[in-house]
Amino acid sequence: MKALRMVRYGDIESSLEFQFADVANPGAKEVVVRVRAASVNPVDNMVLRGDLKSVRKEVFPAGVGRDVSGEIVTVGGEVSDYCVGDQVFARVGEEHVGTIAEFITVDASHLAPKPVNLSHEEAAAIPLVALTSYQSLIEVARLKSGDRVLIHAGSGGIGSMAIQLAKSFGAYVVTTTSTANVRWVKELGADVVIDYKKEDYLKRTSDVDVVFDTLGGEYALDAFKVIKTGGRVVSISAALDPQSAEELGLGWFIRKILALKSRKLIKAAKAKSGLYRMVIMQANGKQLRELGNLYQDNIISPVIDKVYPFEQSKEAFSYLATGRAKGKVIISLGEPAIR
Ligand SMILES: NC(=O)c1ccc[n+]([C@@H]2O[C@H](COP(=O)([O-])OP(=O)(O)OC[C@H]3O[C@@H](n4cnc5c(N)ncnc54)[C@H](OP(=O)(O)O)[C@@H]3O)[C@@H](O)[C@H]2O)c1
Repeated sequence: MKALRMVRYGDIESSLEFQFADVANPGAKEVVVRVRAASVNPVDNMVLRGDLKSVRKEVFPAGVGRDVSGEIVTVGGEVSDYCVGDQVFARVGEEHVGTIAEFITVDASHLAPKPVNLSHEEAAAIPLVALTSYQSLIEVARLKSGDRVLIHAGSGGIGSMAIQLAKSFGAYVVTTTSTANVRWVKELGADVVIDYKKEDYLKRTSDVDVVFDTLGGEYALDAFKVIKTGGRVVSISAALDPQSAEELGLGWFIRKILALKSRKLIKAAKAKSGLYRMVIMQANGKQLRELGNLYQDNIISPVIDKVYPFEQSKEAFSYLATGRAKGKVIISLGEPAIR
C-alpha cells in the first residue's frame, strides 16, 4: 500500500515522502480500515517540526495523520462489535498514527460507526476536533445549559466544532475571529462574534463561566480577567497543569518543570476560586459514537475548508500551517485503493 511517511524532522517538503509498505495484520483487538479520507491537524505539523520530541521521539519512517474515515477490511479475532465492510471513523491512538495512507490499523475501542448522512470526507473532519472539544468543554469544564462560554478562534478546526457543541448543550457562546470570518462564524450559532482585528475582546467580555483557550500564550492568563468567580479556564494550547500531568502519568522531573511553567495560571485560578486545566485529547470510540449521533441528527455539521487529493497531501499540510484554515483540511483517497 501507498502511505505518506515522515522520514526526518524538518519542514513539510523535506520531512514527508510517499512510500510503499505492507498492510499489517490486525492484532486481536484491532481492525484494518481501508482509508477513504483523513484530515490534517496542527499536531501533525508540530510533530514534523520536532516540537514534541521531548514527549515522543519518532522512529523513522513514521506514519502521519490521526483522523480517518473508511471501511473495515480485516477484523482481529477478539473484535465482536465490528465486521468487514462496516463504515467507520476514528481518531486513532498514538500507537497507530498514520491515517494518510491507503490502509490503517485501528484499535477497535477507538472506532465508531460513521454517521450515515455524512460522506467519508465529512466524517474525517470530526474525530480529533470533536473529541477535543467534548473532553475540554463537557468533561473538564462541565459546561451546562445557561453557562456563558468564550471560545477563542471560532473559525478554526476546533473553534467551528466547539461553538456548535456548546450551543447544543444550551450555553451562551462568545467567540473571536477576524473580519472575513465574522458572518459565517455567526451562522454556526455563536451569540456574540468579536472581530479581533477591530476590537479588544477583553473590553467586550466579562463574567463568563468558561473560557476555552485554543490559542495559548497570553490568552490563557488573560482568561482570568474575564471569568466570574468560580469560573473555569480550559486550554488546549497553554501550559500543562499539575493535575493533568499526573493523570497522564508523566514522570516527576517533567512534572516539576511543568508545575513551574503553569504556576502563574494556577495562582490566577486560585485568586478567582476557579479552575485551570490543560487538556490533551485522548482517542475514545465510546465518546465518538455519542458525538457521531449529534452529526447524524443534524445538530452539528462538519465544517470543511479544503479537500485535497491524496497525491497532494503535502499541500494540505502547508495550507493548515498558514494558521488561517476556516474549519478542517481534508485529504481524500477517492477511488478504491489496490491492496
Ligand atoms: N491539547 C490538545 O489535545 C489539542 C487538540 C487539538 C488542537 N490543539 C491545538 O489547538 C489549536 C487550535 O487547533 P485548530 O485545529 O483549531 O487550528 P487551526 O484550524 O489551524 O486554527 C486556525 C484558525 O485560528 C484562527 N486564529 C488564529 N489566530 C487567532 C486569534 N488571535 N484570534 C482568533 N482566531 C485566531 C484563524 O482565524 P483568522 O484567520 O480569522 O485569524 C483560523 O481560522 C492548535 O494550536 C492545536 O495544536 C490541541
